[in-house]
Amino acid sequence: MDRRAFFKSTGAAFAASALPLGALQSAAVHAQGISADKLEFDPTLTPLRGFHGQDVSCERAQIEGRIPDDLRGTFYRNGPGLFERGGMRYEHWFDGDGYVNAWKFTDQGVAHQARFVQTRKFIAEQQANVFLVPAFGTAITAKMPVRSNDDVNTANTSVVRLGDRLLAMWEGGSATALDPETLETRGLVTWAPELKSMPFSAHPKIEADGTFWNFGTFLGKMVLYHISASGTLLRHAVFDAPSGGMVHDFAVSQKHIVFVMPPIGIDIKALRDGKGIGQAMTWDANTSTKVLVVEKADFSRRRILELPAHMVFHFGNAWEENNIIRVDYVRSQNLSVFDEWMRKGMRGERTPSAQSHPAFLRIDLNRGRAELTHRNENVEFPRVDPRVVAKRNRSIFYPFAENQKDNSLNSVMRLDVDTGKTDRFSFGASALVEEHVFVPKRGSQREGEGYLIGVGFDLKRQQTFGTVFDGSNLAAGPMAIIRLPYWVPTCFHGNFHASNA
Ligand SMILES: [Fe+2]
Repeated sequence: MDRRAFFKSTGAAFAASALPLGALQSAAVHAQGISADKLEFDPTLTPLRGFHGQDVSCERAQIEGRIPDDLRGTFYRNGPGLFERGGMRYEHWFDGDGYVNAWKFTDQGVAHQARFVQTRKFIAEQQANVFLVPAFGTAITAKMPVRSNDDVNTANTSVVRLGDRLLAMWEGGSATALDPETLETRGLVTWAPELKSMPFSAHPKIEADGTFWNFGTFLGKMVLYHISASGTLLRHAVFDAPSGGMVHDFAVSQKHIVFVMPPIGIDIKALRDGKGIGQAMTWDANTSTKVLVVEKADFSRRRILELPAHMVFHFGNAWEENNIIRVDYVRSQNLSVFDEWMRKGMRGERTPSAQSHPAFLRIDLNRGRAELTHRNENVEFPRVDPRVVAKRNRSIFYPFAENQKDNSLNSVMRLDVDTGKTDRFSFGASALVEEHVFVPKRGSQREGEGYLIGVGFDLKRQQTFGTVFDGSNLAAGPMAIIRLPYWVPTCFHGNFHASNA
């Protein structure tokens, strides 16, 4: 299938709001969004207020404790940072414009900088001071042409260094290249002419040697990317997806690429009526969640297995031995966190989030069987030591919710998958935490030897802080807390890039 044919199907959602301008007259009737006036924000949700397009920086953050001498480099984070224009507020957290943060660890201390990604959408909307294009979870009438996925690309989900580029990633369109030092936007990344504007997920899997795997999926089609450590496309394939309106993340083992595809459909009529894609998603509890296993060496060799319906956003890792693939991820029941918690959060209302648990998938390739087990902790955003991606791993790191009723992520946890034991630290009622990533100690070879670093929000001070834990002893508490003199919008994901010193 060529790019044009692919886009014809994948781009149908945006085409519904962009090209047939006549149809938009009906969409206008449904235009939604929250009035930004008079919202009383729960103070625990302050970072979801977002910014108004401003960049921020702090040359020397206040450090409590000690930053390890060998922790040097930049911790990049990305998330939606702007939710309001012209008195109107987005309805969904996923809608905001990408705001990339850089926490620079040097011999002089820690500096912080954050800048909005200068996407086409962001630049045009900054000038107009109103939203001009449809958003993922908010019905907005297009006021400028939307010809491809990248005209609505917010570049808001994650960020990773690849070669000399920093990639700000969304999942519905191209990655956006930034300058790794200044965070200045360089422009959209096209891996090959036939892949222009194709979806490129925000969850690439990067093996220890730098081999970079990614995928894109949208309305029944999938694309796979195999990219070198320096950022050159080596192979790609486009094929029909076995199911689904949304696949957010995936896993890679030594020989296979694994997708777990929840029973999400897209109501095309709702899209044509002007709804956002997130609003047009449907959940079919009577259909299975599909497991798609693709051979790394030959993308045409694929098989599908089935599990009872459940939802997944994020994966930790995958590895295999004797034709048995082990995959870990975070499982939830359905789309409720996405539909309810995130929408209420955008209005400043704090509500308990739906449960999501560590899950363990065993795929027996000889018997063609998939089995899923899970633990009971409430977790999200699993990460492993980058040295064990696609290899056997012993540990998984998660933010977790200490209080099961409230379900706010206020703690971090390391799970030993061999023994089932956990190592935990909780900030109690004083803070909420985001994803934490593992940074190997320089010169070490052993998995788990290094630091767990992340970001949190101090509820009392109403400020954002960074954390550094000893990755092998979380219970001891942070080795360092890095305090910013301000808060920044909550990020989704990020990665640490070690300096060469
Ligand atoms: Fe994600």
